[in-house]
Amino acid sequence: MSNDVIIEAWNTVLFEKFSRFKYLFIEGYASISEEALSRHRHPEGSNVLDVGCGFGDCTLQIAKSVGQQGVATGVDCASNFIEECNQSAADEGVKNARFIVADVEVDDLGGPYDEAFARFGTMFFNLPGLAMKNIRASLKPGGKFTQVVWRKREDNPWLHDAELCVRSIVPVVSHEDTDAVHCGPGPFSMAGPDMVSDMLQAVGFERVQFERFDTDICIGRNLEEAIEFALEIGPAGEIIRLAEEEGERLRGEVNVALKEVIGKFAKEDGRIWAPSSAWFITAYNPGG
Ligand SMILES: C[S@@+](CC[C@H](N)C(=O)[O-])C[C@H]1O[C@@H](n2cnc3c(N)ncnc32)[C@H](O)[C@@H]1O
Repeated sequence: MSNDVIIEAWNTVLFEKFSRFKYLFIEGYASISEEALSRHRHPEGSNVLDVGCGFGDCTLQIAKSVGQQGVATGVDCASNFIEECNQSAADEGVKNARFIVADVEVDDLGGPYDEAFARFGTMFFNLPGLAMKNIRASLKPGGKFTQVVWRKREDNPWLHDAELCVRSIVPVVSHEDTDAVHCGPGPFSMAGPDMVSDMLQAVGFERVQFERFDTDICIGRNLEEAIEFALEIGPAGEIIRLAEEEGERLRGEVNVALKEVIGKFAKEDGRIWAPSSAWFITAYNPGG
């Protein structure tokens, strides 16, 4: 699997989808990253790397928390995301945030950093071991890396139940059988603590710890929006997109089936709040 394909996907089709639902991501994911950032506070004055920063909302939050003596650097492989980050920093007047376009697996990340952070920024690496090794190399001795990743799919039914529903209707096209660009490994690629801790230790991190965090997140302001969100984002949306014409032909049938699957998460306020479950994983570069 080529990294160029994945980077192109993040710069084009995935950037467009994420932009369309930007407010849901920023609002929905904020409650998770706020908890992670408050449990694992970056010291004032520190120099922090935000890995796979997307729209950069966490980078800006980190920049504010480390104060003017510190710096937050957001890195992302997609220049379209980085343009948005620079715009948001300018709009909010945040002077101690900077953003770079780089492939975390192979490029120089511009350290050394005191700490690194990633909210859902490490699950799509083609070669995650290489990326983890590069992140560790960018840290000072003793530097801490905190990452937020999804736990197992069964505990994230807003993604998993929608995927099962689409799979039961639309024929699945594997990445190997299509020329279409795609996001690479999926959102649950870092869900297994054994695999992830082995990988982190193999590239030299130590004191690997996992903390579970469960919370309901808003996936739509009404049922229609939540169905649209499920069909555009995550594995369900990818199955439809990769099935091309057949996926489009079956969209109506999928829509009807998803009304039941997603409708069960509707709350009294009319919004759709689905359970979610994440790991906060911390690991340290030796020394310091
Ligand atoms: C699910 S998004 C998360 C974005 C952001 N951290 C958030 O929580 O909203 C994953 C991000 O990782 C970036 N990404 C994927 N592979 C990458 C790589 N090899 N190097 C750098 N960034 C990468 C994507 O462009 C995308 O912005």
